[in-house]
Amino acid sequence: MTENILQVSHLNKTFHFKTKNVKHANHAVSDVSFEIKQGEVFGLVGESGSGKSTIANLLMNLESVDSGQIIFNGEIIAGTDSKNTFPYGDIQIVFQDPRSSLDPRMSIRQIIEEPLKFLSQEKRSTLGSSENILKLIRAVGLREEHLDRKPHQFSGGQRQRVAIARALVTQPKLVVLDEPTSALDISVQAQVINLLKSLQKEFGLTYLFISHNMGVVKYLCDRIGVLNLGKLVEVATNEEIFNRPTHEYTKKLLSSVPTMFQEG
Ligand SMILES: Nc1ncnc2c1ncn2[C@@H]1O[C@H](COP(=O)(O)OP(=O)(O)OP(=O)(O)O)[C@@H](O)[C@H]1O
Ligand SMILES: [Mg+2]
Repeated sequence: MTENILQVSHLNKTFHFKTKNVKHANHAVSDVSFEIKQGEVFGLVGESGSGKSTIANLLMNLESVDSGQIIFNGEIIAGTDSKNTFPYGDIQIVFQDPRSSLDPRMSIRQIIEEPLKFLSQEKRSTLGSSENILKLIRAVGLREEHLDRKPHQFSGGQRQRVAIARALVTQPKLVVLDEPTSALDISVQAQVINLLKSLQKEFGLTYLFISHNMGVVKYLCDRIGVLNLGKLVEVATNEEIFNRPTHEYTKKLLSSVPTMFQEG
């Protein structure tokens, strides 16, 4: 039996804000529950504003949970009964826009090595060895000489390859990918998607893949959760979502599938 690496239960997050002295409450995430098994690619889809990034931010401890629970690798990492310890290095994220997620002053080598600072000295020296860093930069389709350059010397697609290498350097148990190709030129989106797919196969990675593109999700994901206005309206296998969707909102999303990634 494959174990759940992540279990999200009854997660809630509301943002409170004021406009013209009137208080508003935005229920960004409402009673969301799902789990991800080890080695699985779980897709989270939904339109803009449906709460996808908020879920990613809650998982990454970038936002605090209002109620509910996140269990990662058997430990409660957020919400009810949480010990408020975050497993740095074991959950890593790739953000949408590599231009803003990579520090322009750092070299590619420094960027890739940065997450290692959260790990023990022993792990740091093994994973950060020049042999490992070299393997990693090659695995994402870049070359040794790229390590000494800075982010502005790369194309958008190459920058996202660096962000992927940075996410993988700690050998994470879960990689959160928050629309990792949406900010890229259309011509390189397919290359980065294919890279993510081959890395997942090669290293047996576990992904939470966030997208608003049903075609890409069909190509990459084993199971898919459909978010609408902060609520998870359907969670099912890839096959079920695309052949026997049960929720009206899922059917609506499917009617707008672009053709680019329909073949899997
Ligand atoms: N820090 C915040 N403060 C106030 N409201 C927020 C905050 N972050 C997100 N929201 C709101 O929560 C809702 C969900 O936003 P979220 O960014 O999670 O959506 P998303 O599904 O990732 O959208 P997109 O596809 O555009 O990235 C939106 O209505 C958004 O305006
Ligand atoms: Mg988002």
